[in-house]
Amino acid sequence: MTPEEFELAARFVKDRSGLVLTRDKGYLLENRLMPVVRELRVKSLSDLLAAVAAGDAATQTAVVDAMMAKDTAFFRDWKPFTHFRSIVLPNIRVSRGMKRAFRVLSAGTSTGQEAYSVAMSVRDLASSFAGWNIEVIGIDISASAVGAAARGVYSQFDVQRGLPVLTLLQHFTKKDDAWVLNDDIRGMVKFQTGSLLEDLYPLGRFDAIFCRNVLVYLDLKTKLEVLQKLGRVLVDDGVLYLGLNEALSGVGASFRAVDADLGIYAAHRADRPASLSLAAKVDL
Ligand SMILES: C[S@@+](CC[C@H](N)C(=O)[O-])C[C@H]1O[C@@H](n2cnc3c(N)ncnc32)[C@H](O)[C@@H]1O
Repeated sequence: MTPEEFELAARFVKDRSGLVLTRDKGYLLENRLMPVVRELRVKSLSDLLAAVAAGDAATQTAVVDAMMAKDTAFFRDWKPFTHFRSIVLPNIRVSRGMKRAFRVLSAGTSTGQEAYSVAMSVRDLASSFAGWNIEVIGIDISASAVGAAARGVYSQFDVQRGLPVLTLLQHFTKKDDAWVLNDDIRGMVKFQTGSLLEDLYPLGRFDAIFCRNVLVYLDLKTKLEVLQKLGRVLVDDGVLYLGLNEALSGVGASFRAVDADLGIYAAHRADRPASLSLAAKVDL
């Protein structure tokens, strides 16, 4: 790959996804794109990048998809989900009791484990939320990840990472070598392809947003832009979960840290006391 080709590819991937590829990442670009060269049956990496430059939509989508790191797990890091279950969900039950509805966004959902972990957490409190209208939306720039997420079929390896056996047996059905999520969980979650760099308003507003292990790949300016967009679609008492390694000193004016080590942030509104946040501990 020539330096010009690297520049072209890096600029294209950054514009679409925010992912920053520094010059020392040339090997990463080649490793990830060679399978695309074979899959799309083009002659070479140079031809692939020429198709990107010419605006070929299918090639562009495949290139972005290939460059994304999609590693994930059910109940990843566990503690943020404990916070969601033990603090946020009880607060939602009280504060949304009249409306009987709430929405959660899994932004950068990859193959769906995060969104389904949210749905399983809610389902485990089924008696508290009987008859409620609950929507979990998973969005990701990778069309292949979103396709896998919507199928809701996982390998033994996938379910071994993070799922307690009881949860597995309660919410999945074994089919041949795979584990299929039960319909009640799948029915709570919808997935769509999209970039967090785009306008998020069409998704509507959310009571909680999980955006974990996504911002870590972005430069500071893009991170702050994405956080600003997320802040605009989070309700005034909403909660934001970032990854454990993503504690930012300047998360922007829209959030304040609840537990920066665990990546838990509350929407910050100058006129609202912190105690009214869904992320705040209250005596129920
Ligand atoms: C490492 S995975 C994290 C998955 C999950 N959130 C978790 O913590 O387990 C990062 C995901 O973010 C997605 N992603 C990266 N940049 C994105 C963007 N600009 N818009 C939407 N999704 C993006 C990637 O495709 C990938 O699936």
